[in-house]
Amino acid sequence: MTRIIELAEHKTPQLERHELESFVRSFQNRREEFLSLVNQYGSPLYVIDESALRRRAREFLEAFDDDVPGHRAYYALKSNNHPTIASILLSEGYGLDVSSGEELSLALSLGAQDIIFSGPGKTVAELELAVRHSHRVTVLMDSIGELERLELIAARLAQPIRTGVRLTTDDEGIWRKFGIPLDSLRLFMTRAARCKFVTLRGLQFHMSWNLSPDNQVVFIARLGAALRELDRKQRGMIEFIDVGGGYWPPRGEWLQERSTPAGRLRYAVEEQVRPRAGHYRLPAAPIMRFAQHIARALKTQVLADVTCAIYTEPGRWLSHEAMHLLLRVVDRKADDLVITDAGANAIGWERFEYDYFPVINLSRPAPVEHDCYVMGSLCTPHDLWGYSYFGEDVQPGDVLLIPTQGAYTYSLRQHFIKALPTVVSLPPAGTSTSAAGDAQSLTG
Ligand SMILES: Cc1ncc(COP(=O)(O)O)c(C=O)c1O
Repeated sequence: MTRIIELAEHKTPQLERHELESFVRSFQNRREEFLSLVNQYGSPLYVIDESALRRRAREFLEAFDDDVPGHRAYYALKSNNHPTIASILLSEGYGLDVSSGEELSLALSLGAQDIIFSGPGKTVAELELAVRHSHRVTVLMDSIGELERLELIAARLAQPIRTGVRLTTDDEGIWRKFGIPLDSLRLFMTRAARCKFVTLRGLQFHMSWNLSPDNQVVFIARLGAALRELDRKQRGMIEFIDVGGGYWPPRGEWLQERSTPAGRLRYAVEEQVRPRAGHYRLPAAPIMRFAQHIARALKTQVLADVTCAIYTEPGRWLSHEAMHLLLRVVDRKADDLVITDAGANAIGWERFEYDYFPVINLSRPAPVEHDCYVMGSLCTPHDLWGYSYFGEDVQPGDVLLIPTQGAYTYSLRQHFIKALPTVVSLPPAGTSTSAAGDAQSLTG
């Protein structure tokens, strides 16, 4: 009962109106660019925003390179696996972090020279692919079983392979599926030392969904204690520590009412829930703060005992602003209900029931937001873009923009009922004034 009262009374911070309006205005100001893309390529469209991606790529490196000596960043391809996004990040000096044979093949085909391959349950075929490209790939092993399989494969191919091992960050529940428990690190290293072809050179951990560096800092302290338990020879084997990804983008997490504690309670107790337009924001630490706090924790807890490089695996932080979605309104069924030409299969999940992003009517720009169910055309009522739109009005044929949909949408898209959006690329800022003339259609 006390918990229910706590939930009901919990106040999630509101997304400030001025912040939302200035975000919307920044896209309304680029209206001509986006409209000309739809004129040229039709809709729906995924638009790659190269300038936004390069800006974030540089900011991330600046923050971590400044604070973390020997830092090397690997882009987590799973967050957006479009080849253009990965190629841009390669050209900015990133390595690639892959999690399957499919992602590894893509990374190899893009010419990546420095690839880390992590993830549980790697198959023999996937490990074999890594070993065949061992001059470009470091395998981050997930278990003792995987160490044994990898040694057999590498011996069969007579090909040594550089590796690390992933550490479990939470010994209870579903996160246990990743890596080995910290208290079995010594045993793992002893077993690895007996291998002839697998050379263990590093440690990895990854914690997801961090609005601040607190979780990473706490785990680094545990890691430091575990490292002090190793003998000097074992510590001397460690050439890198990979602190993973999980940095939340700086605008914070924007939520619908349903994702707030009070909203979750309302959805649980009301029989006929009518969703309400909600604008909530959980603040996220700037990337500099992540870098500084992680660097300080490493310095005090780890680097006194181990001399090694530090790797990061950012995904969402880099790709979030790198793609936008453009759709057209097909049907206006009521003043507060429109249907668009794209469905939620374009993003692969019912994101907008939980996350808030403004729907911006580029055809009738206005700084006002109207309540309206903006829905897709799939056979499910959960196919939704939002409960409101910014604009003067909304009519069939209007072009709507859903900004900053680069992370965990494009790579989760599904072939379901509707065709997938074409992908086009905006030219980098300053290279052209007529975007559509220079945009490339990239869908193959
Ligand atoms: C091992 C690993 N590294 C990096 C990432 C990227 O995380 P994020 O996109 O939150 O930065 C993930 C995401 O699931 C992951 O599993």
